[in-house]
Amino acid sequence: MKKKALIFGVTGQDGSYLSELLLKKNYEVIGVMRRSSAFNTARIDHLYALYPNQFDTSYGDLSDLNSIERNIEKFEPDEIYNLAAQSHVGVSFEISDSTFDINAFGPLNILQVLKNKGFKSKFYQACSSEMFGISPPPQNENTLFQPQSIYGVSKVCAYYTTRYFRQAFNLFAANGILFNHESPRRGLNFVTKKITIGIAKILTNEIKILELGNLSARRDWGFAGDYVEAIWNILQQDKPDDFVISTGENYSIEDFAREAFNVVGLDWKKFVKSNVSRYLRPSEVPSLLGDSSKAIKQLKWKPKVLFKDLCLMMVESDLKSFNLTLDEAKKIAKKL
Ligand SMILES: NC(=O)c1ccc[n+]([C@@H]2O[C@H](COP(=O)([O-])OP(=O)(O)OC[C@H]3O[C@@H](n4cnc5c(N)ncnc54)[C@H](OP(=O)(O)O)[C@@H]3O)[C@@H](O)[C@H]2O)c1
Repeated sequence: MKKKALIFGVTGQDGSYLSELLLKKNYEVIGVMRRSSAFNTARIDHLYALYPNQFDTSYGDLSDLNSIERNIEKFEPDEIYNLAAQSHVGVSFEISDSTFDINAFGPLNILQVLKNKGFKSKFYQACSSEMFGISPPPQNENTLFQPQSIYGVSKVCAYYTTRYFRQAFNLFAANGILFNHESPRRGLNFVTKKITIGIAKILTNEIKILELGNLSARRDWGFAGDYVEAIWNILQQDKPDDFVISTGENYSIEDFAREAFNVVGLDWKKFVKSNVSRYLRPSEVPSLLGDSSKAIKQLKWKPKVLFKDLCLMMVESDLKSFNLTLDEAKKIAKKL
């Protein structure tokens, strides 16, 4: 019998990589996606064709308890991965109610269905390094949560809700506290993607200058393809537990810009303008740096792609989407 996985947030960056991983492991994967007026399945379209008998999607919304119940009852999954969220920290300052609703009440809705209906599905909750906020680095499973955004607060809520259902009702419910992870599939409004796609736009003369916010924030950036292996691993443990997943290295946004522009031979300083007031947030998280000793020991997991290779991978992919090879890009860059 194939194992069956239900993925909330299947259309997102991690949902697409996790689906690929599980399908390769011969799971049957059902992705729950919300209805959208424009198609939002670009990251998973290839999977319908590659795995016609193993992969499918079903409509549902984390803020719609009925749809959660319907999907769990219909598919009776062995494993449920909740990756769905309003995942942008900056946006959470603007739409705080719905961020909290999706990110905090969403997992509660899933867990209530599991408990009330007696399902034995294992449950994974996507938590975030943003929960640590201003706690000084390095951060691990014992670090105090001091979130600095409604996004971070909502994830702290999801974290404790997951632990509560594990402790009070004996559910297999586990948290992954993931530090930033990027990929060519990263959403367009995240800073790494803004930088790598910005480079392609500069080279093709679509823009002259790339405007970013605060360049000094430091983040621990890994590759989403590596991180979904840890996510899967967390649900394969004998006992449910919580794990920090990170690379153990951190770099500033300025470092990311320098490295990414360097891939094509450009000096980032000539093309990047920092407009701190435009992107000012009410509160900032200066430095996130994960200590994944527990995951390394217990999950036997460690990241394969580190900072330099991640920059290269993202730049090359964005150049490709503008029909440019790296060699062609370097030639154009020399003339700028
Ligand atoms: N990537 C990171 O660096 C990082 C770090 C720590 C934690 N996380 C967390 O890990 C998870 C996955 O991250 P990601 O980078 O893959 O995020 P993402 O690309 O923004 O994907 C989020 C997914 O959630 C879905 N979603 C949003 N609201 C929903 C709702 N009400 N009902 C059902 N689905 C909904 C989105 O659907 P649409 O396509 O319709 O928008 C999308 O599929 C998120 O929970 C995020 O907060 C991410």
